[in-house]
Amino acid sequence: MAEKIRVMIVDDIVETREQLRKLLSFDPDITVVAMAGSGEEAVAQVVEANPDVVLMDINLPGMDGITATAKLLELVPTVQVVMLSVQGDVDYMRRAMMAGARDFLTKPPSADDLINTIHRMAKLRPRTIPTQVAAATPATGVAGGMPAMRTGRIITFFTPKGGTGVTSIAVNTALALQKRLGSEGRVALVDANLQFGDVSVFLKLKPTRTIADLAPHIDEIDVELLHTVMVSHPSGLQVLAAPTAPEDAEIVRNIGVDENGGNRALKAILEFMQAQYDYILVDTTHAVDDVLLALLDLSDLVLLITRPVIPEIRGVRLFIELLQKMEFDMKRVGLIINSVDNKRMGIQPEAIERAMMPAIARLPLDERTALRAANYGVPFILQSPKQPLSQAVVALAEAIRSRFAETEEREQGAQGGLGRLL
Ligand SMILES: Nc1ncnc2c1ncn2[C@@H]1O[C@H](COP(=O)(O)OP(=O)(O)O)[C@@H](O)[C@H]1O
Ligand SMILES: [Mg+2]
Repeated sequence: MAEKIRVMIVDDIVETREQLRKLLSFDPDITVVAMAGSGEEAVAQVVEANPDVVLMDINLPGMDGITATAKLLELVPTVQVVMLSVQGDVDYMRRAMMAGARDFLTKPPSADDLINTIHRMAKLRPRTIPTQVAAATPATGVAGGMPAMRTGRIITFFTPKGGTGVTSIAVNTALALQKRLGSEGRVALVDANLQFGDVSVFLKLKPTRTIADLAPHIDEIDVELLHTVMVSHPSGLQVLAAPTAPEDAEIVRNIGVDENGGNRALKAILEFMQAQYDYILVDTTHAVDDVLLALLDLSDLVLLITRPVIPEIRGVRLFIELLQKMEFDMKRVGLIINSVDNKRMGIQPEAIERAMMPAIARLPLDERTALRAANYGVPFILQSPKQPLSQAVVALAEAIRSRFAETEEREQGAQGGLGRLL
């Protein structure tokens, strides 16, 4: 890195400030440009110090960390604020997010966490802020017009008949998206196949907590609780696993349904997750039930999967008809044709598309690659990245990403160009 990352430390306890400074001194790419003992001091120093990243204690006497964050962002809208808090400050954290904090660390942070977070934040900061945007930034606007909350897109993978490749595609697409977005991107994969979910098998994960542990607590869900239940894959992908025993599906079902018949627990969990992730991909089972109704309600995109065989095509067609009867917005529906085999006598993809809609992706049949992936618990885009099947999934992830990137640009255009700077 040519220029060092400029860091400001805000904490009322002198030892804590020193400790943080010491931890940061191990990284030659980081320089501490200012230390403040209060929110007021931080506000007074920030313009001159011009930090890239501010480490902000949430609990400060006088002006608290949240107010200070909002004020700092008014003065220097490009600064990235990382909030430090002791465990249990969850309600504060939510407010801090609203005020524009970009990330959180629990006190005391480990050197690794601290340094990694700072590097991640520094990458997020635009070096210069376009003048017209700076001028248009409302003086009183929280976070200088930059929404700190993520607005996760929910993408559901579904087919009415089993064995079509739904889980394979959901898992590999999630990994491809996570890879495409890099360390700044946050992708979650939710296994909503409540009885026989196998996402964790595909990813060789051994979840100790699952959606069944979260469901009874939807009224008290917060960032920390969510994080204790999510399982991390080495790729950075976060997984919300299905219950480990089929009978535990009842725990999720017992929370009941909402006025549209949608599963209440799943809905609350996904709504909360939207603020935490950029993309939330959902694997499903093959039933039109309370879980699917909840997903239809919330999904930005429902991807229907069929192989080129008549019974599956028929199933998807019937489901599309059902969606039309429900007056579902068909712009939110996409088609994936899986296991396309040009050499065999399958139904031609063109014929399937004519009967339904143009497919977002056609994925080739590749039994060897798919089977190896399933048996080793290493998804094919990681195990066999060069295979056409993997490359087709990478293209699918990119199609999904660019579809939403375009929508975002349009939405921002509608806000008079005052959208996200990042
Ligand atoms: N494109 C493909 N080519 C060959 N086999 C595939 C392909 N996609 C998935 N499979 C295989 O099909 C089987 C069922 O896949 P799975 O993802 O579990 O389907 P579902 O979730 O719809 O039940 C798995 O053994 C998987 O390896
Ligand atoms: Mg499955």
